[in-house]
Amino acid sequence: MTTQDYINREDKYGAHNYHPLPVVLDRGEGVYVWDVEGKRYYDFLSAYSAVNQGHCHPKIIDALKKQADKITLTSRAFYNSVLGEFEEFITKFFGYDKVLPMNTGAEADETAIKLCRRWGYDKKGIPTNEAKIIVCESNFHGRTTTIISMSTDPDSRNGFGPYTPGFIIIPYNDIPALEKALEDPNVAGFLVEPIQGEAGVDVPSEGYLKAAYDRCKAKNVLFIADEVQTGIARTGQMLACDHEGVRPDILILGKAVSGGVFPVSCVLADDDLMLVIKPGNMVPTFWWQPFS
Ligand SMILES: Cc1ncc(COP(=O)(O)O)c(C=O)c1O
Repeated sequence: MTTQDYINREDKYGAHNYHPLPVVLDRGEGVYVWDVEGKRYYDFLSAYSAVNQGHCHPKIIDALKKQADKITLTSRAFYNSVLGEFEEFITKFFGYDKVLPMNTGAEADETAIKLCRRWGYDKKGIPTNEAKIIVCESNFHGRTTTIISMSTDPDSRNGFGPYTPGFIIIPYNDIPALEKALEDPNVAGFLVEPIQGEAGVDVPSEGYLKAAYDRCKAKNVLFIADEVQTGIARTGQMLACDHEGVRPDILILGKAVSGGVFPVSCVLADDDLMLVIKPGNMVPTFWWQPFS
């Protein structure tokens, strides 16, 4: 098959939900990928940072193969012999009491929203169904129905309503706007990307994250960092929030957490927050069988 044959087949049988470049990739190793014609490229995109460890990293692939030969999925109806090891590692690594693992970044954001709302009702005393979450213009947190409800990007949002209520949208990098929004006593959380990725790699002013965190603390509002794009040393620190010494109340990770082999995302928080989640509140089928 030629490059064009592959492209034609995808166009015919797949939904037209993206604009790929006309290159058909076939294999990868480290920083390189090769197309079906055997041409080699540097992969500067790294699957939008999900393959930051490099393509087919031997250690990751070896662990994946060993686990696949043993058992691939147990479901959360049972305990399994590796989930706890993963949970212990990631919580100690990032310094939180607990992790709630999910699959995609969008799912982790959805989970953080639910966690924040439930905390708002159970702990902060917000009247039922009145909780609000502050988000920023030009945010990108994924493409589920609730997440597009807080988006200002017409391509993500338009034509998919009705939308989920409960979001206050303020300009990014604007502390006075945050202060004003925080005056609402029903605000449970502030969800922010430490650097806005899809918006064009928009780095906020120095001190913004710390100032935003402090304003949230003063109003008993959760500071929620979406580090799906910026996490795992992407910005030179393990987390982008580390640049300003901010420890989010809820930390959202995705992409490179998986080593680029299958979708893994995580929501990290301490016990007083995470334990508002009860059995059955949030559990995807594919969580899961990590490997070590
Ligand atoms: C900051 C941020 N949050 C969430 C997501 C959604 O992740 P996923 O595509 O795995 O659902 C993305 C994806 O690019 C992202 O950049």
